[in-house]
Amino acid sequence: MIEYENLERLNRPFVNAFKESFNSTLNSGWYVLGNNVKTFENKFATYCGTKYCVGLNSGLDALILGIQALELPEHSEILVPSNTYIATILAIIQNNYKPVLVEPELHTYTISPSEVEKKITPKTSAILVVHLYGKMANMVEINNIAKKNNLKVIEDAAQSHGAMLNEIKAGNWSDVAAFSFYPTKNLGALGDAGAITTNSESIALKIAALRNYGSHKKYHNKYIGVNSRLDEVQAGFLNVKLDFLDKINEHKRKLAFIYNQELSNFYTKPVVQESFFDVFHIYNVLTPERDRLKEYLEKKGVKTEIHYPCAPHNQEALKGYFVETYPISEKIHQQTLSLPISFFHTEVEVRTVIKHLNNFAHDHK
Ligand SMILES: Cc1ncc(COP(=O)(O)O)c(C=O)c1O
Repeated sequence: MIEYENLERLNRPFVNAFKESFNSTLNSGWYVLGNNVKTFENKFATYCGTKYCVGLNSGLDALILGIQALELPEHSEILVPSNTYIATILAIIQNNYKPVLVEPELHTYTISPSEVEKKITPKTSAILVVHLYGKMANMVEINNIAKKNNLKVIEDAAQSHGAMLNEIKAGNWSDVAAFSFYPTKNLGALGDAGAITTNSESIALKIAALRNYGSHKKYHNKYIGVNSRLDEVQAGFLNVKLDFLDKINEHKRKLAFIYNQELSNFYTKPVVQESFFDVFHIYNVLTPERDRLKEYLEKKGVKTEIHYPCAPHNQEALKGYFVETYPISEKIHQQTLSLPISFFHTEVEVRTVIKHLNNFAHDHK
């Protein structure tokens, strides 16, 4: 059987280093906001090329606190892609701003700059882009639009650690960027973890206080904050894994290249664009036969996933928020299938997956 993901197998190469890191944290006697967190913040900021990184306890909190720190006008509108994971939209709503859904480009799955321009109103205060599946949004165009219209830019980089556009990394293209280190991510912890990156000292300081009860100085509270600190044990694990992130990304890129080369054109495959360095958190194909294909692969012993089966505007939790239709997003949600592409998958396994997909394509032409 070819699994879609297996976190134990994924983490096997790092087990000894994880154990050493855990023992060292245990023996340090310092379990909250200690050296591991500080080291990780410095290392990850350097990796992304940003001045600051603040460790938090999840990607959702990174989005929530990142948006909060921007101090946008009350009840203003934030533009966000209609085909994202729901967390992106929840973070806007939890800050009492209005999410305005913008359709993605069908060939990149990222927010369409021309659609962004159509949705700007006097109430728009920010554009929240999502670098979905490991591919960066077109930040050159998005930042031009933002500049012209005096809008803030936020990146949801939860799926794109190390992805680049024009050799500049995700997390370094906006006022504030949110990362998730959920265990399945390219840089994944052994539990929940997240961070923001920014080049603004004031935003970094504000988020560092917000994550710690709003405290900028021990027992002095400047803001109404929360407890959303990156855990010291998880930061230790992330320090181990960050050293291997480029290797993990390279492996996934190699497998994606094989899929792109050898998969039948019966499927719509991820687009390859000059200047974009994609890291394939997810490798997806589109086909109107998605559900039958998933079942077929399951019978052949190949596990797949759907990211995501239900578009945010169709979620029960968001009923009443959106009145328009989002045909491109609907199409993606109906047709997308994610294929195995973990760090532990071998080229042989990927070629087995390809064989089954190509046989299916042959029978359905
Ligand atoms: C695009 C996107 N945004 C936000 C999140 C939320 O991150 P977390 O699960 O760490 O809260 C995720 C993670 O699943 C995600 O994929």
